[in-house]
Amino acid sequence: MNTNIPWWKNDTFYQIYPRSFQDSNNDGIGDIQGIISRLDYLQDLHVDDIWLSPIYQSPMFDMGYDISDYQAIDPIFGTMDDFDELLTESKKRNMNIIMDLVVNHTSDQHKWFQEAISNPNSKYRDYYIFKTTSDGKEPNNWRAIFGGSTWDPVPNEPGTYYFHTFAKQQPDLNWENPKLRKEIYQMINWWLGKGIAGFRIDAITHIKKDLDWKSLPPDAEDGLASVVKKGRNRPGVQEFLNELSNETFKKYDAVTIGEAYGLTDRDLPKFVGKDGYFSMVFDFNYMNIDVLDVDEWFRGQNNWTVKELKKVIFKSQNEIKQSGGWYANVLENHDQPRVLSKLIKNKEYQNANAAKALGIMYYFLPGVPFIYQGQELGMKNFEREFLEDFDDISSINNYNLAIENGYSNEESLSIINNKSRDNARTPMQWNNSIYAGFSEHKPWLKMSDEIDGINVLEESSDNLSVLKMYQKLGEIRHDEIISSIITEGDLHEIYNLPDSIIGYEIKTETQSLIVLVNLSENPVELSNEYNGCLLINSLTNKSSDHITISNLSGYQALVICK
Ligand code: GLC
Ligand code: CA
Repeated sequence: MNTNIPWWKNDTFYQIYPRSFQDSNNDGIGDIQGIISRLDYLQDLHVDDIWLSPIYQSPMFDMGYDISDYQAIDPIFGTMDDFDELLTESKKRNMNIIMDLVVNHTSDQHKWFQEAISNPNSKYRDYYIFKTTSDGKEPNNWRAIFGGSTWDPVPNEPGTYYFHTFAKQQPDLNWENPKLRKEIYQMINWWLGKGIAGFRIDAITHIKKDLDWKSLPPDAEDGLASVVKKGRNRPGVQEFLNELSNETFKKYDAVTIGEAYGLTDRDLPKFVGKDGYFSMVFDFNYMNIDVLDVDEWFRGQNNWTVKELKKVIFKSQNEIKQSGGWYANVLENHDQPRVLSKLIKNKEYQNANAAKALGIMYYFLPGVPFIYQGQELGMKNFEREFLEDFDDISSINNYNLAIENGYSNEESLSIINNKSRDNARTPMQWNNSIYAGFSEHKPWLKMSDEIDGINVLEESSDNLSVLKMYQKLGEIRHDEIISSIITEGDLHEIYNLPDSIIGYEIKTETQSLIVLVNLSENPVELSNEYNGCLLINSLTNKSSDHITISNLSGYQALVICK
């Protein structure tokens, strides 16, 4: 095996949304002890690296993405001792812990921000972005990602505003200030020194803003223009990222996965190439096939075709290959609807077979697979009838905006149901008891109403389940020969296939892996015959020594090895 390859390159990653994974003390909220109690489950899935969505101290306006103390665990999740125990217990099972790094902004409850607004002369004033205007109006017309102006007034200081890219409870840090940057690096190194393996890095292309702070022509009726035009992947961000990476991650050989929206293919080599700022960035391209514009990600569109999906997957792969880098491949995360509901248009077919076909589709692409909790069970979206059933700040803001724009209550609910981040945040389904084995207490967020058959207990004893297939995928991906084909081989799209079939081959000089996925409910004839050893057939979850295949059933997927 090639010893130059980074340590994480054959790993399988798993994202835990701690609030919804497992509750250990029956308060209806998932916690660290709950995670510890499920480590064996993750080991059975062949998970190597566990990414925890934020568990730091937070008032939870944006569910932990608003941090009020970077070096404390929120009591809702447990204590630092619990965290240390999690580290030890994971290591015992050869698994690493990866934390979420949210450094574009803090919570407005962070002591730095509290100092900054209560004392304009404090050194913390320059940790954030404040502007005073002579006419008392907002400094410009930029629109925050969660809606409304990016500027909010500072209490007791008429005409003075602070800046936030996301919600008003999430003031942006001022990365232009070297003291702030240094303090952030110290915090990062403190965590790395503790023994975590790396970070998933939140909203990182937002840390640099255009310093002219100029208004833009409005892009909607509210008279505002999206902040991303002046505050995402802007000139100068690369200097910050270079310094960040050199001062922290590189010193520890940490694995880092950037949430880096707004990159062009030309930026990729700098971000993830040989000496890139990060180990990987997420490939969100196919995940976002159902939105017209990623900057308005909460508005879905259903007109895409499998042919287009294919195009996006291979275009992405081609770009990352040119960059010399490696993608983190994802179907789901805590910001996205469930993949079954998103990519399978006919509700009747949003079932285990389709979930398995989708799993096979992305698991063997060059890059590392990330599994989001519940994806391995085939969990789905469900319709919420009342605004009270939502928790997500962006869903609620978007509901209010829809109402302000004249939509009825029903229409507004339907807009947010479709893309709401709460779709992915419902509690994990461990069994089919009343709260699905997640808790004995009513969970913090309304549960899915489809628990029967879609839970760990039942799927563990069903040989055809989605869970059994993901376990098998994990096993295959860890086979030394298979993993070396993926890390060292070249990807080729298979072209002469019917529109509904996604097919690719990864080849080294001596070996190859062929993946064929039928993303339609209809059986399809292939124009070529494929043969080789069968690594997995999605319809049976089985492998076999040799097959010859010239057609696929509806939602059937195969991995063939030569
Ligand atoms: C990222 C997170 C999202 C969060 C936002 C602000 O996009 O994934 O959950 O709301 O950043 O931190
Ligand atoms: Ca709890």
